[in-house]
Amino acid sequence: MTLTTQSRSTQKSSFPKGATRYRLWDTLGLIFNPLPNLEKYRNRYGDIYSSPGLAAFPGSIIIGSPQGIEELFNLDPNLLDCGTSNAGLKPLLGDQSILQLDGNPHQQRRKLLMPSFHGQRLQTYGNTIIEITQTIINEWQKDHQFYMREITQEITLRIILRVVFGLDKGTQYDELRQRFSKFLDLFNAPLYTIFLFLPYLQKDLGQWSPWGNFQHQKQTIYHLLDQEIDQRKKDQDGEDILSLLLSATDEEGNHLSKAEIMDELVTLLFAGHETTAVSLAWAFYWIHSQPDVYHNLMDELATINLDTEPTEIVKLPYLSAVVSETLRIYPSVIFAFSRTLKTPIEFMGYSLDKGVALSPCVYLVHHHPDFYPDSKKFKPERFLERQFSPYEFIPFGGSNRRCLGYALALYEMKLVLATVLKQVKLKLVNSQPILPVRRGFILSPSGGVKMKVLG
Ligand code: HEM
Repeated sequence: MTLTTQSRSTQKSSFPKGATRYRLWDTLGLIFNPLPNLEKYRNRYGDIYSSPGLAAFPGSIIIGSPQGIEELFNLDPNLLDCGTSNAGLKPLLGDQSILQLDGNPHQQRRKLLMPSFHGQRLQTYGNTIIEITQTIINEWQKDHQFYMREITQEITLRIILRVVFGLDKGTQYDELRQRFSKFLDLFNAPLYTIFLFLPYLQKDLGQWSPWGNFQHQKQTIYHLLDQEIDQRKKDQDGEDILSLLLSATDEEGNHLSKAEIMDELVTLLFAGHETTAVSLAWAFYWIHSQPDVYHNLMDELATINLDTEPTEIVKLPYLSAVVSETLRIYPSVIFAFSRTLKTPIEFMGYSLDKGVALSPCVYLVHHHPDFYPDSKKFKPERFLERQFSPYEFIPFGGSNRRCLGYALALYEMKLVLATVLKQVKLKLVNSQPILPVRRGFILSPSGGVKMKVLG
């Protein structure tokens, strides 16, 4: 829906101020250089402002303050619909993924998946995460140079393949790993970002056309998943998420369809892989660009050793503060899901109509001057000095849509950092500040964080 002056007056609703239309360069600016643009609009219109449709994504009201987030996250979820606003993700994740579900089906799917990412199950992943990281470090020699984002992508992909499919070796594992990495690189290239945001470009003109190639790569992955599901149906004793999805039944005893299972698998691979990889690459960058942060962290890590239990490592306060500050300053996901109103409501003093979408802006909340003074500075201490509420610090969104994998992501980030930093001394190859750039839907460190092994 486009928010125009005319629709406001005829529907007797009251809207926050904001832009009424984006010209092409505004749209490109918001896609490729979103942060200064978000700040520009906030400075112009305030903490809550209306934004017209941005290509594949419908018009919405941007919420950039903890007060607005609190009001939104406390609305009755039955009044809100996320599937409509997530429709732009369908070409990637299919139409049966949890992101497209609402109401009871959404609740049921969360109930099914949740135990795989929390409590006892989470703890069992601890040693797996350390083992996978260790295998990668063992390949490093002194003076070896690499892009940290590629390394963290490799680590998080191996972890998610283990958690979701229970796979860690074999032909099927190798093929999935390679195909999926290739697909991700393709999807994250600037050309494809434009295609995802501008649906009228999504035309399959054969395998050599950009969208045709995208579809072809996607089909290859679905074909591999199809084979894996058939194989697993014969041999259903795993503890991974695929086994869980295969054995799950609804209240009437029906199993999930193959299409539902495949869309969910792709969703978990996507949602759980690049987000964490990029956040980890940022963490390595910040730690190595701020000597005081590095020294404080190393002092704390000196209190543990290589066989300290993962459950103890993840409780370290300074390590936890470094991870939180990393997720605050440049959140890899700058917007949580938009929530579309299923009924008119009063919100933050405005009367909003059915069909209006509310978009929680993680980045603007994390840089709100009342809560984060000096917000452009990387200061883990802020998380030691103060506890932030679930409306002030929202890297994983909130309410009934809160990220399903948040606990796994935090576990991964802390254990990978501790395992690497305890054993290897690294250095940034370039001393210039690294800025965020868009990779697909995610905000990533430009250049990928080039590092060198010192010893
Ligand atoms: C640092 C890493 C991550 C970040 C920053 C992140 C961020 C987010 C955000 C902002 C949302 C939207 C929440 C909302 O609108 O309220 C979300 C949803 C989701 N995330 Fe994550 N995520 C991360 C890692 C993961 C991992 C590891 C997994 C699982 C393997 C995962 C699975 C999901 C799923 C399934 C949803 C949809 C939840 C629903 O619709 O109910 N994410 N994530």
